[in-house]
Amino acid sequence: MTYDFDEIIDRRGTNALNTDGFRGYIFHAGPEKVFPFKDEEFVRMWVADMEFATPPEICQAIKDRVDRRIFGYTMMYDSAYYQALSRWCRDRYGWDFPEEQLCFSPGIIPALYQLVEDLVGKDEKVLTMTPAYGYFLHACEYNDIELVESKLHQNSGFFTVDFDDLEEKASDPKVKLMILCNPHNPSGRVWTEEELRKICDVAVRHDLWLISDEIHCDLVRRGIRHTPTGKVLPDYQKLVTCMSASKTFNMAGLMFSDIIIRDPHERRHFRGRDKIAGMLNPLSIDAHKAAYEKCGDWLEQLKSYLDANFAYLDSFLKEKLPEAVFSVPEATYLAWVNMSGCLPGVEDLPGFFANEAGVLLEGGDSLFVGNAQGWIRLNLAMPRSIIETGLNRMYDSIQKYRKEHKI
Ligand SMILES: Cc1ncc(COP(=O)(O)O)c(C=O)c1O
Repeated sequence: MTYDFDEIIDRRGTNALNTDGFRGYIFHAGPEKVFPFKDEEFVRMWVADMEFATPPEICQAIKDRVDRRIFGYTMMYDSAYYQALSRWCRDRYGWDFPEEQLCFSPGIIPALYQLVEDLVGKDEKVLTMTPAYGYFLHACEYNDIELVESKLHQNSGFFTVDFDDLEEKASDPKVKLMILCNPHNPSGRVWTEEELRKICDVAVRHDLWLISDEIHCDLVRRGIRHTPTGKVLPDYQKLVTCMSASKTFNMAGLMFSDIIIRDPHERRHFRGRDKIAGMLNPLSIDAHKAAYEKCGDWLEQLKSYLDANFAYLDSFLKEKLPEAVFSVPEATYLAWVNMSGCLPGVEDLPGFFANEAGVLLEGGDSLFVGNAQGWIRLNLAMPRSIIETGLNRMYDSIQKYRKEHKI
C-alpha cells in the first residue's frame, strides 16, 4: 500500500459535522444534551464522510490553486473538468454524456430540493424505494410534496425491489418523479443491469421523471460493477443523473457536484433558478478535476481497505452477535445492520449505543424514511483500529443489556 489508511487524524477544531454536529443531526438536540461520554471519547461511526485523509494529489491541486492567490468569482468556462469526468465515466462505467448536459450544484442535496420543486407540481407526488436516504424526504417536505414509498424486500440483510409494488405505486397518476439511489444507500445494493432495466421500465412506462442519485457509484466492492442509469436509458430525456467525487475522495465539505440534465428546457430552468448564479468554488473545481485525473490508484487501494473492513465486521458479527442481520454491501462504506434480535425492546438504537457504548451511529425510520426500524447504519470508512474499538464497545453494551434483562 502506498497510502496510509491506518493513520488516525484529529478532526476536532475543524468545524466538522462528524465531531461537533452529532447532537443536532442524530438527536435533534443542542449542547444541553449530555452523555456519559465526553465528546472526544466517542467512536464516531455515523455521518457519511471518511476518517481517511483526502488523497495527496487532491490536496496538492488545492495548494497549487492557492498559489495563484486570487479567488474571485468563478464559473466553468473551459472543458478540462468535463474532459476529466467524462473520461472517468467512460473508463469505469462504459458510459458518457455530452458536455452541454453538465450542470453544477454545491451538493446533491441542494440539487434535489431544486429538482423536486422544478419537476413536481404541488398536488403531485414523488416515489422512492425505502429504506431511503433522509434527504429524499426532506426535499419533498421542503416543497410540500408527498413522498410515496415502495418498500424493498429484505432477506438475510440483502435487499431487493418489490417490482409489483413499485409498478402499482408508479401507476398513481399523481406520481411524477422517481428518485432512485443507484447504488442504494443505506442497503448498499448495486442494482444489477437487469434490476436497473426493470426499474427504468417502470419509470418509462409511467412517463416519470427519474433522478438517479449515483453519489456512491465509485465506492463498490472490488469485482462489482456499477451500471449508470444513463447507460440503461440512453435516450430518455426525463433522466437526471447526480454524481460527485465528494464521497469517493472525502471532500464533501468542498460543496461541488455534477447534475447531468438531459432535457434542455429543465436544464435552462435549473440553471436559471440557481441561487448562486452558476458561481463555483475555484478550489473545488481543481480538487474534483485532480480526483478524476489522478486518483484512480488511491481509489483502488481504498477499496481494498474497505473490503477488509467489511470482512472484519462480517466475521465479528457472525462470531459474536449472530442475531444481527447483515450482508456485506456491494457498494458504499456503510454497513446496514438489523440489531433488533440483539437488543429486543430497544427502540432508540442510536440513543442506546451513544449512552451505553459511546458509539455514534445512525439508524431507524427517523433518519432513513421508513422500512428501517431496528436497523443501524455503521460507517466503516475509518482505520480498522477504530472499528475494532467501536464494535467491541457495542458488543459489551449488548452483553450488559442482555444480562440486565435476562435475555
Ligand atoms: C444517497 C446520497 N445522496 C446525496 C448525499 C449528499 O450529497 P451532497 O453532499 O452532494 O449534498 C448523500 C450523503 O450521504 C447520500 O448518501
